[in-house]
Amino acid sequence: MEKTKFAAVSDAATEKCVIEEAGRILKEGGLVAFPTETVYGLGGDALCKESSKKIYAAKGRPSDNPLIVHICKWEDIYKITSEIPPEAEKLAKAFWPGPLTMILKKSDVVPPETTGGLMTVAVRMPEHKIALALIEAGGGYVAAPSANTSGRPSPTTAEHVKEDLDGKIDMILDGGSVGIGLESTIVDLTEGVPTILRPGYITQEMLESALKTDVKIDRTLLDADCGQAPKAPGMKYRHYAPSGALTIVSGEHKKVTETIARLAGEKAQAGEKVGVICTDETKALYQADCIESVGARKDEEAIARHLYAILRRFDDEHVTCIYSEAFSDKGIGQAIMNRLLKAAGHHVLYV
Ligand code: TXA
Ligand code: MG
Repeated sequence: MEKTKFAAVSDAATEKCVIEEAGRILKEGGLVAFPTETVYGLGGDALCKESSKKIYAAKGRPSDNPLIVHICKWEDIYKITSEIPPEAEKLAKAFWPGPLTMILKKSDVVPPETTGGLMTVAVRMPEHKIALALIEAGGGYVAAPSANTSGRPSPTTAEHVKEDLDGKIDMILDGGSVGIGLESTIVDLTEGVPTILRPGYITQEMLESALKTDVKIDRTLLDADCGQAPKAPGMKYRHYAPSGALTIVSGEHKKVTETIARLAGEKAQAGEKVGVICTDETKALYQADCIESVGARKDEEAIARHLYAILRRFDDEHVTCIYSEAFSDKGIGQAIMNRLLKAAGHHVLYV
């Protein structure tokens, strides 16, 4: 790859020719990174196996980890699936376009390269004008994992994408910071009870109230030591991890802040460069090289939006040791704690 083209796109309608150029690149088998409401995606033609192979190569991603196919209108789902259960229609009505991915049985037009060899396909219709316009211009079916190097936190700005993929892909569409900041909820509709494989902005309660039935959560999300493999292959990999060693400190509020303050001091004494993830309420209680607030503790949407950028900032600052306060795991907090635990390699100190 010679050079990655960088294009600012403030509005899909006024920047029609940029979107058309990006769509052409996709149709010719190239790769374009683009904003969605969750995180930036790295797009390629989902129905072309060569494009999918290029996506894996650019990210350095294991090829058994399937890609999500992004569509821009409901009718397009029929071509890539072989069976649409009634739950899929209900969930699409309630949450599409939006941060929900459904696992369905795939049709023959989807190459195994796109689905990591699985007979199922992940489908999502994002709620972002630039994403929807690009999918349409690119032929309707865009495979897009998060646009990060495999293992790093997902990108929430075009700058993050550039850090990881400059020179490896054809184009980056810069649509500013994303709104949600954590990847979509994944729900498996291919066997019996609908099951959440990855928590996200759309919560279990929201899915249950749309379906009026029970929705399960993949056991491996609740119990990392259960010895089972997660059903979403990507969930088994170490992920979102900063290069510094991250420990989550959980327990009674005052004990948590005291413990982090003490450990941060001890590590600094020992010559480590220390980072702390805290909230607006506790920021003043710490002394460390890099103190990052996720926002107000009760503002869970702000925590979700800021988390990945903070993890990346620690890498920029070459922080070697990081402590994070634990957050609530209710509602979207479940997705926040899922990502934070993965970033910490499940290293939690209970105080
Ligand atoms: O919000 C999002 O979903 C973002 C934006 C760009 O749309 N995309 C994203 O893609 O997070 P990625 O590739 O980073 O994560 C996709 C996850 C992986 O854990 C993968 O294993 C799982 O979805 N997945 C994809 N297809 C699957 C399938 N057929 N069965 C089970 N899990 C699947
Ligand atoms: Mg990802």
